[in-house]
Amino acid sequence: MDRKPVTIPAIIGKKNSGSKITALTAYDFSFAKVLDATDIDIILVGDSLAMVALGFPNTLPVTMDEMIAHTRAVQRGARNSLLVGDMPFMSYQVSDEQAITNAGRFLQEGGAAAVKLEGGVRMAQKVRAIVQAGIPVMGHIGLTPQSVHQFGGYKIQGKNLLQARQIKQDARELEKAGAFAIVLEGIPDDLAQEITGCLKIPTIGIGAGPHCDGQILVLHDLLGITQDFTPKFVKRYANLDAEIKKAVGQYIEEVRSGAFPGREHSYNTDKNPLKKVDDSRGNH
Ligand code: KIV
Repeated sequence: MDRKPVTIPAIIGKKNSGSKITALTAYDFSFAKVLDATDIDIILVGDSLAMVALGFPNTLPVTMDEMIAHTRAVQRGARNSLLVGDMPFMSYQVSDEQAITNAGRFLQEGGAAAVKLEGGVRMAQKVRAIVQAGIPVMGHIGLTPQSVHQFGGYKIQGKNLLQARQIKQDARELEKAGAFAIVLEGIPDDLAQEITGCLKIPTIGIGAGPHCDGQILVLHDLLGITQDFTPKFVKRYANLDAEIKKAVGQYIEEVRSGAFPGREHSYNTDKNPLKKVDDSRGNH
């Protein structure tokens, strides 16, 4: 598909035109290439990499070096979608300097166009510092997975008045700090609607209902590859786990039975050169 590279002004423009922003995660070159050939607006190299690709129980252990390596791989496949790198736990919390340096690595080494980081009011100064360094930032508030221990699990946020007010304030402060978009994760849909209505920058929802300016999902959830707990907000558009197991099962059966590889998957020369030598020697 021939399409123009997606830019940050184009993403912001979608809010004004009312056309929904579409976003998915990717962690490697092959999937990035497939996604980029669709019309997807944003590819996020999420720190969900820790769970989906590296097998950790949460997102906390993934390192900057791992995130950069995967962002580089995704970048080689993503020519047109807007590429966003997710700042891992403890790569931006310590100081403005740390936040700017690590955000810069995503652009310089990873080839991303922007970074995402978790936190609202408490992280607004880090967002401001990164944006002032010329690096676009996507915010992420609500159920922020890097705070799993503080929350005592992956619990929907913003269900009581105090929390809801805080999340709205988080959104406002991120916008003031210069974020170009905000991921709203795991909050009630009416709160997401209210926040979306009071911001000039777009909101991108995951488990935040239908009223956001766009949606994001973890690719492996959408494809039905992840088999563990599936949150309510995930819709599986395919069941690749079953498809992959079926294909691999068939392969095993055919290798064992000798049905694969057949002649059509083998390199046949008209005459086996070794046999030709043997023939000329009268060896049959
Ligand atoms: O890490 C991730 O994949 C994310 C998105 C799902 C928002 O942060």
